[in-house]
Amino acid sequence: MCGIVGYAGPQSPSSTPLEVLLEGLARLEYRGYDSAGVALVTPGGIASAKRAGKLENLRTALADDPLPDATAGIGHTRWATHGRPTDENAHPHLSEDGRLAVIHNGIIENFHALKDELLAEGVTFRSETDTEVAAHLLSRAFAETQNLTEAMRTVVARLTGAFTLLAVEAGTPDRVVGARRNSPLVVGLGEGENFLGSDVAAFISRTNRALELGQDQIVTITAHSVEVTDFQGNPVENTEYTVDWDASAAVKGGYATFMEKEIHEQPKAVADTLLGRLDDQGRLELDELRLDTAVLKRINKIIVVACGTAAYAGHVAKYAIEHWCRIPVEVELAHEFRYRDPVVNEQTLVVAVSQSGETMDTLQAIRHAKDQDSKVLAIVNTHGSTIAREADAVLYTHAGPEVAVASTKAFLAQITAAYVLGLYLAQLRGNKYAEEVAGYLEELAQLPEKIQQVLDGADHIREVARSMKDVPSVLFLGRHVGYPVAMEGALKLKELAYIHAEGFAAGELKHGPIALVEEGTPVFMIVPTRRRPELHAKVVSNIQEVRARGARTLVIAEEGDADVEAFADVVFRVPETPTLMLPLLTVVPLQIFACELAGAKGLDVDQPRNLAKSVTVE
Ligand code: F6R
Repeated sequence: MCGIVGYAGPQSPSSTPLEVLLEGLARLEYRGYDSAGVALVTPGGIASAKRAGKLENLRTALADDPLPDATAGIGHTRWATHGRPTDENAHPHLSEDGRLAVIHNGIIENFHALKDELLAEGVTFRSETDTEVAAHLLSRAFAETQNLTEAMRTVVARLTGAFTLLAVEAGTPDRVVGARRNSPLVVGLGEGENFLGSDVAAFISRTNRALELGQDQIVTITAHSVEVTDFQGNPVENTEYTVDWDASAAVKGGYATFMEKEIHEQPKAVADTLLGRLDDQGRLELDELRLDTAVLKRINKIIVVACGTAAYAGHVAKYAIEHWCRIPVEVELAHEFRYRDPVVNEQTLVVAVSQSGETMDTLQAIRHAKDQDSKVLAIVNTHGSTIAREADAVLYTHAGPEVAVASTKAFLAQITAAYVLGLYLAQLRGNKYAEEVAGYLEELAQLPEKIQQVLDGADHIREVARSMKDVPSVLFLGRHVGYPVAMEGALKLKELAYIHAEGFAAGELKHGPIALVEEGTPVFMIVPTRRRPELHAKVVSNIQEVRARGARTLVIAEEGDADVEAFADVVFRVPETPTLMLPLLTVVPLQIFACELAGAKGLDVDQPRNLAKSVTVE
């Protein structure tokens, strides 16, 4: 949430600090796009520009009124928390004398008290943000120390809440100082230039060498140096790592939108997540887990904590893990888990699922679980992210960078990784014979090709989606693993097309939701495979029930399933596959449907309104 970029490096004819910052912001815009702004340290002092709306508005303003050459700078793209998305509330925020500029991601929880204190001292505020207090406090601390790093140290000691702060000061033109608590910040290590970013996307086109910053650390970068200390000023050594994706992974590559590209990358996301998990004997081997197998053998309950789409991946995984391992699995929204009194102990394995690895709700949930001695395993897509680092164990999904704000390929990769975990536990705990585990892995290995078949046959879905662009409401029904798929289908339609949509368990229909069905109501039905006749028959009945009440039925069923034809207004086919594997196929038409329908409405599918990719506030 909010994209942050900092740069210290030379002004050269081929590339200026301003261009570096704007390029970084363009790559970070998925984190928030309510406003954008930059501040540069120039020979004449701090020069800044900021505009409400997308980055394009800032670019236009800069073209009309260019900023002077610079040696360092900071840039910000905002997802509004305190104060509406206006020019005034856009970051950077400047000190009263205009010599110091600050950008911020997170929420300063004690800002009211600090603001009152500053107002009493006669400070004039220009915005409604919590961030502006940091600018004024820093300016005061700098006046005393004449050292931006020390000033930052003084100020962070006064702040509560979550923050990444970056600051530049007119009299120290070679440096950017950053601080982080409960909010992400990474350092990019270049040749004769260094970077700061909310994530590696901020600098990936210029370097793939990155440095993890820990909790409660302060970093000072110049073009030739990077110094990190804790909040008390003690030097700390951080781990350098190489980012394993390059800048081309974060461009549209011929697709009109990132979302379309990412939907088409799903066969690869699943295949890559399965890659390299077997030893010479064909047994699952998860070296990266960092968790003692004795601990995994002892667990008697799993709780999946996650939010949104990641939580639906957890719902799907529950069916598989319980079936394979006979361990009870609960799935809980991370923000709910955190604030009730969950029964967890050292025999509970908490599995946190997160694409970004930075979702604050999920992060707080895992901290809560660890406080109660339970082990935490994270299924995460972003290397070096906070959740990956704080968890006891990590299983990475290999979906590659997901840029579109609404999640698609990460969902499939999360289910795949959770299945790998389930099979690993079944192998380890002796619930399944080696041949059975190998059989399930073989079924998983066939999925990339089957997903590709769904993608190749998607024209029909697109056509239907375009014809439905004016519908006011859509229902989605599924049973068993089809239930979380129905909820995910509804979520995609809500967030991309701004259409009211609900996902229900098909069996729940008659307990209330059927009252929503009227003449012409579109109802998607996710039909289980005929290999489970008892499940299949129930859903076929449910289709008839809604159709009898006037619904227009859009049915997702496997190839050759003729039973649904008499009751379906539209059928989307997916290749035959075993029950537990089906979500990885049936969700794909729903993603394409939502994406195409939103496009037909002229909406920005990559950056839907009010959303941000990485939700780093609670
Ligand atoms: C929906 C979507 C969100 C995320 C949720 C968790 O399309 O993208 O619901 O799934 O915010 O995000 P991560 O996985 O980064 O923790």
